Amino acid sequence: MSTPETEAASYMMGYSSPEAERLDSQHILMRHMNANRLLSPQLHSAVRAGKIKKILDIGTGTGIWPYDTTSEMKTLGASGPLRFVGTDVAQSVHWVRHQIFDSNIYATITFDIIDLNDEDSMMGLRDKYGPFDLVHSRLLFSSIKDGKWPAYLARIFRLLRPGGYVQLVENDIVNAAACMNNQIAAESLVIAYGIYRGLGLQVDIAAHLAKLQLHAGFVDISDELRLVTTCHRKSDGNIVVDNVAHEWIVSAFQTLKPLFRKFRTAPNYAELISNMPPQVYDNAPESRPELLLADEDAYSDFQERHEEISRTDPLYQLSFRIVVGKKPE
Ligand SMILES: C[S@@+](CC[C@H](N)C(=O)[O-])C[C@H]1O[C@@H](n2cnc3c(N)ncnc32)[C@H](O)[C@@H]1O
Repeated sequence: MSTPETEAASYMMGYSSPEAERLDSQHILMRHMNANRLLSPQLHSAVRAGKIKKILDIGTGTGIWPYDTTSEMKTLGASGPLRFVGTDVAQSVHWVRHQIFDSNIYATITFDIIDLNDEDSMMGLRDKYGPFDLVHSRLLFSSIKDGKWPAYLARIFRLLRPGGYVQLVENDIVNAAACMNNQIAAESLVIAYGIYRGLGLQVDIAAHLAKLQLHAGFVDISDELRLVTTCHRKSDGNIVVDNVAHEWIVSAFQTLKPLFRKFRTAPNYAELISNMPPQVYDNAPESRPELLLADEDAYSDFQERHEEISRTDPLYQLSFRIVVGKKPE
């Protein structure tokens, strides 16, 4: 069992109560970007057929995903009892709100503190609960170090029963920038690359999830791209802001500010933002990446322009991937 003092617990957003509130409101965006669903349609027939009853949510955060997914499964017609296990490297103050113990009712939800990199503890889940029918993880791209994703997928594979399913949901920052046609796209990527590489994380992991699943041995893989624009233009020409998406992305850049400041002044900054995707060079042709966002004032200026673009440019979008695979029978 790991504690927040371990290396793995250096989760960039920390473990405060405001972070728990942020994760719960982020969950609303996650529903929103997927037509108010939490499970991919690829899983619906297995749910209805009663093939998904024991579910593991790795890096569960506040545990809101298992909590809400019980209702979705009921609506889909899944017969109980359902068993959910949520794991995280640190306990959330919201676990008491999201746990369900009574084994006589439709679903049971419990939580365990486990570091997803700890092979023995993770495999101990299989000994404790038996193999799972579905393993889910969402928004762990800021938690799993570069190079550790293949081992993570191998672990999920072993935790599943033959014929069991995996669903991974991640933010696709690079794809989101692809449709924007302005300097904000370039600057957003410079910020993401500066921070995530500085923390040893893989910025573009979302685009590699299907390949990772394939290499781990999964079959019948579906890779769904979900796009949410932060505003849209109506037929009368007026722009309507999508407040859920807009507020989420504006607050994300507020949260990232101190981290970017840290890496912007790091001696290896030029290396961190080297080999950027083409969207950076296409969208900021007048500037080299290393010259963008030179100091705190420039970041504040970016935030103001970004807030404006997010409210007014119907091309500004958030991008997520939902990748589902099946362990062979
Ligand atoms: C962005 S949050 C996502 C939470 C949740 N999956 C959701 O979508 O609401 C990332 C979570 O990963 C957890 N985490 C970070 N490193 C971890 C590790 N090594 N093992 C298990 N969980 C970890 C964090 O504590 C945090 O709760």
